[in-house]
Formats: sequence, structure tokens, C-alpha cells
Amino acid sequence: MNAELILAFSGIDRRAKSLFAVAAVVVPFVAPPAFANDDAILAEARKVATTLPPKLIVALQDEIKKSSAEAAIPVCKDMAPKMAGEISQQTGWKIKRVSLKVRNEARAIPDAWEKAALEDFDKRAAAGEPPMKLEKGEKVGDEYRYVKALPVQPLCLSCHGPSETLSPGIKAALGQHYPNDRATGYSEGQIRGVISVRKKL
Ligand code: HEC
Repeated sequence: MNAELILAFSGIDRRAKSLFAVAAVVVPFVAPPAFANDDAILAEARKVATTLPPKLIVALQDEIKKSSAEAAIPVCKDMAPKMAGEISQQTGWKIKRVSLKVRNEARAIPDAWEKAALEDFDKRAAAGEPPMKLEKGEKVGDEYRYVKALPVQPLCLSCHGPSETLSPGIKAALGQHYPNDRATGYSEGQIRGVISVRKKL
């Protein structure tokens, strides 16, 4: 082998070695297991977030049918946070409901990450995306965070619809418990808020 060839081969070898070196550094961060892990935590967050809303809807429907919308206020007021607390205990995820137009200021004011997601969801719903499908999940610092939109359904309107359509009883009860209530004036398909779950990784 002449000197020129040896040089050429050793050049290839050097390139190959440096490629391996790059691969060794990069691959552990982009290999499929990392993605599979992300998918798994997204699926877990979604499952936690979707446990509460259907139960609430059934409870609201039952109570409204049995007596009145007014009598169903405790379902959204007391039962929702209680159920969220129970799910938290069972799963280790923290659960909240937050909104851009808050009814309960003590519990429902979004932080910056939630606010950005809520604003993005409002834009996308207005542009025609099905609100039921709007969700966002990502690692933020040392946590995994996930939000899912809660669209306004006909059932919600008796307590979150335009103020002039609310019954006098509902108006009185809301005025008494939530003097700064901003959570009226919604129409079907708008986003009332999100269910927000988070867990330390
Ligand atoms: C019977 C009246 C009633 C009905 C019906 C109702 N809500 Fe509520 N909603 C309330 C009350 C009262 C609160 C405040 C709860 C609290 O004190 O934490 C509330 C709070 C919320 C919150 C938390 C954010 C905030 O502003 O405090 C969300 C999200 C929400 N409702 C979504 C819905 C959706 C979606 C529906 C329909 C599926 C619905 N609600 C139906 C009365 C109602």
C-alpha cells in the first residue's frame, strides 16, 4: 500500500471514528426509548386528566334533572375539587381547573404556562379545531405538565351562559358565592377552561 493510500484510509478511519463519537453522544438522547417514555407519560397525564370531567358531567346532569341547576352548584363548587383531590391521592398527579375568565379566584387563576395554553386553545378553537381534542403536554423544568380543554356544552350554559339567560336563583347564588364572577357569557363550543395536571419527574 503506498503512502497516499494509507493516508486516505486513515482519513476515512478518522472520519468514521468521529462519526461514532458523535453517535455515542447523540443517540442516548434521541433513541426510541426516550420517545416511548414521553409517550407513556403523556398517556398517563391524559388518563388522569380525563377521569374527572365525565364524572362531573354525570353528577351535574343527575342533580339538575333531580332538582334544579341551583341545587347542582355544589357539584361544580365542592364535588369537583373533592374528586380532584381523591384522584391526586390515587395517582400522585396534582389536578386543577383553571380558566382565563375565572369564577373561583382562590383556585382557578392560571399560571404563565397554563395561560399560554389557554390562549393558544382559544385561537385554535376559533379557527375551527374541535375543542374536545385540544391538549398540550410537555416537560417543564423537573415536572411533566398537561392541560386538556373543557369545552362548553349545553349543560354548562345554565351556570356559565350569558348573564341575561341565567335563572334568578342561579344569579343570586353565584352573586353570593362569587362576587367577582367572570365565568358567564359563554356559548356552546367555547373553551370554559382546562383541566391541568402536573407531576414531578
Ligand atoms: C350548576 C351550575 C354549574 C354548571 C351546570 C356548570 N358549572 Fe362550572 N362552575 C360552577 C361553579 C359554582 C364553579 C366554581 C367552582 C369553585 O368554587 O371552585 C364552576 C367552576 C368551573 C370551572 C373552574 C374554573 C373557574 O372559573 O372557577 C370550570 C373549568 C368549569 N366550571 C367548567 C364547567 C363546564 C365545562 C361545565 C359543563 C360541562 C360546567 N362548568 C357546568 C357552576 C356550574
